Amino acid sequence: MKVGVVGIGHVGLPTASVLAHIGHEVTAIDSDRQKLEALRAGDLPYFEPGLAELVDEGRANGRLKFVTDFEDLVAGAEVVFVCVGTPPRSSGGANLLAVEKAARAVAEVADGRVVVAEKSTVPAGTAERVARTLDRYRRSAEFLVVSNPEFLREGSAVNDSLTPDRILVGAESPEALEVMKRLYSPLIEKGARWIATDLRTAELAKHACNAFLALKVSYINALARICELSSADVTDVAEIMGSDPRIGPAFLDAGIGYGGYCFPKDLAAFDRLARQLGYEFPLLGEIARINDEALQAAFDKIETALWNLEEKRVALLGLSFKPGTSDTRLSPSLELARKLIAAGATVCGYDPAAGSVAASEVDGIEVVDDLYEVFKGADCAVICTAWDEFKTIDLARARQAMAIPILVDGRNLLDGGAVAAQGFTYIPTGRSGLEPDPTAR
Ligand code: UGA
Repeated sequence: MKVGVVGIGHVGLPTASVLAHIGHEVTAIDSDRQKLEALRAGDLPYFEPGLAELVDEGRANGRLKFVTDFEDLVAGAEVVFVCVGTPPRSSGGANLLAVEKAARAVAEVADGRVVVAEKSTVPAGTAERVARTLDRYRRSAEFLVVSNPEFLREGSAVNDSLTPDRILVGAESPEALEVMKRLYSPLIEKGARWIATDLRTAELAKHACNAFLALKVSYINALARICELSSADVTDVAEIMGSDPRIGPAFLDAGIGYGGYCFPKDLAAFDRLARQLGYEFPLLGEIARINDEALQAAFDKIETALWNLEEKRVALLGLSFKPGTSDTRLSPSLELARKLIAAGATVCGYDPAAGSVAASEVDGIEVVDDLYEVFKGADCAVICTAWDEFKTIDLARARQAMAIPILVDGRNLLDGGAVAAQGFTYIPTGRSGLEPDPTAR
């Protein structure tokens, strides 16, 4: 099938390359010409495991093309995906201008019968707006609008798109559902659950999923605070909770809070939508408040350990909002860096993928591109992002480089006993800390 993809960001690019991989003819467009040119030359705009290989494959076999013209995008396309950004407005609601512009651009050039699939995360009711826009600007085409929310996670976007646990399509038209089912049939045959529903239910379900996942993270982070106050162990509590299949173990890792471009903005947009619909949903605001509290708790631990932050050097390990990505948008690590710098500390950061982006985003942060450089002269090191690389840190080497060996484990990544045995003060999250082993040199 011929498919167009508008917007080649963290959702659009994996979507386009996976659709090409399963046999479709895909054209993709973006308002950012530089990004398009780079992709045509084989350069990815961000790091995502396995994505470069998939994009190369599509470029090589000709099934994935990056175009600059909407005429080329829609020519012969049965389905056009809208994967553009929906950034937050200051009101908390999503800014849907890019969605409207994409719909208009498609309407002005398309012919025939085209399914327009909304993949950007949008408030319930947006598909109706998209349908109205398509109708208002259409040249001659007939459009069928569907909502096809994406559940892929950054860092595992390729795998999530190749083996999704569900494919959700909301539509009012049986014909549009049939087209979408045909499009996804290679994935459905491999076991992805096909869920067809109406437009508004699909749109709402996406918000419901992200809010619930954020709730799980905030729940365990609140428990981490209680565990710290009561000398209990949050990782054991999470394991006990997670072994109940009704709860499940995922998204129960306590830490310095969630970040990224999805949870914070989707939660705010969902809260606003609920209000607009006349329903007060204070739980959503509470999830966000506990998330802020998790970051503040990490800051407080550093401050308590170092006393005055002025003239202290803090090393941050991990700057991306989660491991496996170079994305630093709303990264808790960067927020922590800003708070520490504002309090007078010198902050040096290291990240396996996000260093250069982070350096341009936080005024005053020093960024190094070698893991052991970051420890040099530091009075405290903080694990902010759970990159695998940090699990095998040579602790003796790190301690030798540091001015004072204090390690705040914001992701409970390390074995506290092993850290203390190397002479560190170990300060984990939601569990008891350890003093340095006096025999360690
Ligand atoms: C999230 C959802 O998981 C995807 O299903 C959805 O498609 C995507 O948003 C989206 O709406 O586009 P993503 O933001 O890529 O995916 O990352 P997650 O893996 O969900 O992690 C979000 C944040 O929660 C990260 O900062 C992560 O470190 C944090 N987190 C996650 C925790 O602190 N603890 C956990 O146990 C799990």
